Amino acid sequence: MSRVFAVTSGKGGVGKSTFSIGLAVAFSRMKKRVLLVDMDEGLRCLDLMLGVDKDIVFDLSDALKGEYENAVYKVEKFPGISLIAAPGKTGLISEEDFSELLPKLYKKYDIIIFDFPAGIDVPLYSALDEKSKFLTVAVPEPVSVRDAAAVNEALSLTGRTAELIINKFDVKKMRKGIYHNIDDMIDLSGLKLSGIVPESDELALFSIKRKLRKRGKPMKAFMRIAERLDGKKKGLPKFKKI
Ligand SMILES: Nc1ncnc2c1ncn2[C@@H]1O[C@H](COP(=O)(O)OP(=O)(O)OP(=O)(O)O)[C@@H](O)[C@H]1O
Ligand SMILES: [Mg+2]
Repeated sequence: MSRVFAVTSGKGGVGKSTFSIGLAVAFSRMKKRVLLVDMDEGLRCLDLMLGVDKDIVFDLSDALKGEYENAVYKVEKFPGISLIAAPGKTGLISEEDFSELLPKLYKKYDIIIFDFPAGIDVPLYSALDEKSKFLTVAVPEPVSVRDAAAVNEALSLTGRTAELIINKFDVKKMRKGIYHNIDDMIDLSGLKLSGIVPESDELALFSIKRKLRKRGKPMKAFMRIAERLDGKKKGLPKFKKI
């Protein structure tokens, strides 16, 4: 049975897709079979970010119609990771079809990561089973943190809670800004902190270079988060070292 992660955010552009890929790479380096599912209908991006955009013929809308295997693409650059691309048009993911597809996917992968669009899509969130873990990504800015809290509130109506991933973390900028420490962000979002990803040029350039250095700071952050999510005893990093 797979572990399922749903990556969400209130505000757009905070790094959900980048985080989803980083987490997928980390789990694949732990020898897990990983499936990434791009849920951003009409605005898909994971295929391009992973360099398989030219291969895509079938997408999630085809997977929902029945045989899902045709819509699963192996990502050559990152062995162990497969992708289902989002439909090119909107309105093609129904809650009912989505719920029917899920058990088929659960059988085949150790880890499934759904990269949701920004905002609150309660019907689709509800289609995921209650063991799925929601990871809400926020950057250290007031709007992003408030919107993360809004996602959590919407999720709580379905009996689920999210955990917080802080992305684009830069200790110097944080100290100069409105949040002087991580605790402020945790308090204001009302979420449990699951991981911190540094602001980094390597991640900003990922969709061009498609590289994550094993010993680079971003990859170390993704490995730490994946290990924590996998139940290993790993603390949060020391902030100065992120
Ligand atoms: N930790 C980081 N350091 C530097 N740049 C980053 C980091 N994370 C993401 N980015 C950059 O921020 C931009 C937005 O990232 P991304 O597309 O992953 O966000 P998103 O939340 O998925 O956006 P959307 O809401 O449109 O789906 C991209 O240009 C990406 O390269
Ligand atoms: Mg995205």
